[in-house]
Amino acid sequence: MNNLPQFLEELKREMLISPKSVWDIARDFQTEMLEGLAGRPSSLKMLPSQLNNPNGQEMGTFLALDFGGTNVRVLLVELAGDGVFQIRKNSSFLLKNEKQSYDYTSGSTKAEELFDFIASKIAELIESRQTYYLGHTFSFPFRLEGINQGFLINWTKEFKTAGVEGENVSRLLQEALKRQKLNNVIPIAILNDTVGTQLAGAYGDNNCRLASILGTGHNSCYLEDKIIINLESGNFSRLPRTKYDRQLDELSESPGSQLLEKMVSGRYLGELIRLIILQLIEEGLLFGKSYGLFKKSNSLTGAEVSLILVDRTANLSTIKNLLEENFSLLGSSYLERAALQEISNLLMVRSACLAAATYLGVLEHIDSKLEKRHTIAIDGSLFEKMPGYAQTLEKTLQRALGENAEKISLLLTKDGSGIGAAIAAAVNVQKNR
Ligand code: BGC
Repeated sequence: MNNLPQFLEELKREMLISPKSVWDIARDFQTEMLEGLAGRPSSLKMLPSQLNNPNGQEMGTFLALDFGGTNVRVLLVELAGDGVFQIRKNSSFLLKNEKQSYDYTSGSTKAEELFDFIASKIAELIESRQTYYLGHTFSFPFRLEGINQGFLINWTKEFKTAGVEGENVSRLLQEALKRQKLNNVIPIAILNDTVGTQLAGAYGDNNCRLASILGTGHNSCYLEDKIIINLESGNFSRLPRTKYDRQLDELSESPGSQLLEKMVSGRYLGELIRLIILQLIEEGLLFGKSYGLFKKSNSLTGAEVSLILVDRTANLSTIKNLLEENFSLLGSSYLERAALQEISNLLMVRSACLAAATYLGVLEHIDSKLEKRHTIAIDGSLFEKMPGYAQTLEKTLQRALGENAEKISLLLTKDGSGIGAAIAAAVNVQKNR
């Protein structure tokens, strides 16, 4: 390619998910769901949660542990019924902190160290004289045995902590709580964050049968015959991939897996854009062949992609500052900054179109004629904060469904995984009575 506009034209073609391919992907997704449900080989794990939609009358105060990424939260949630809840207490902490030089997500950390750290943070939030039932949101693929024993199948989102894969995560947490002498904390439920979001969405809305996370990671779940099923849709693999997707996958901790997540989620979006920028610099089409800090893997974050997208200044000065301050690249031209914005936009739109296609696949499976109304509960930074993301998702569904699209509502379900953990705890306390 010998000029920037030509490169961008070609990239646009490669990244475009046409209305026809949206439906092709939706149908392939539906086929994989059926294969997975039948126990045949499928990229969708279809993991049953043993939880139904709540009836809305779950009440009481519960402790929630939301362990889904490097930012872990502990919450004390009061459920008041009919979709009403209040977060009474709330703390969050990082599993990885370069400044304080610790990293509980690395391969050299042992499971016990990770869970001891988490248990010590739970200890900081609670009173020693009170008893707490705990719902544990664990946002990774796990297999459930009984109502509260979850076995991690494999780490995702670049986690590597040793001695957790294949293990009973509920037991690891329980033993760590014991070592902390937290006998007043009783774990009673373990659930995926999508399942938490589903429970939180359905707590106040009967039409909610599909929930999704569009944040650092990506995944969805849905209600099948009174059981919420975690699709682990981030692992879906029948996708039109580009050479940048293949490159990113090969450089990742888990080549060949989580292919959809690697095209959609915030953990990878910045990295994909960075790989495209590298290619442009290499070809001499951007920044006069200087790389600045773009050579460093994962140096472009999802939050920075949002900043690039939101820049409406005449001179694209937000992008200019970002390049100077975060990437040590001085003297970029307006056209180069506009190219960066266009690339980010193409990748953001592709992500939203792919997510929409998978929702269409689920809707085809649960209500192909769209006889009912459906609320899709969604949490995560892409959906909540990335400029243009929610609108693109909505537009893609509208284009695909025509008039029927008015039966679908997208509901931002903030803190869904924490609220959902409390609801799951309430449901399981009832089951145990
Ligand atoms: C995990 C899912 C999780 C999603 C969103 C993915 O990496 O495999 O279990 O729901 O991230 O947090």
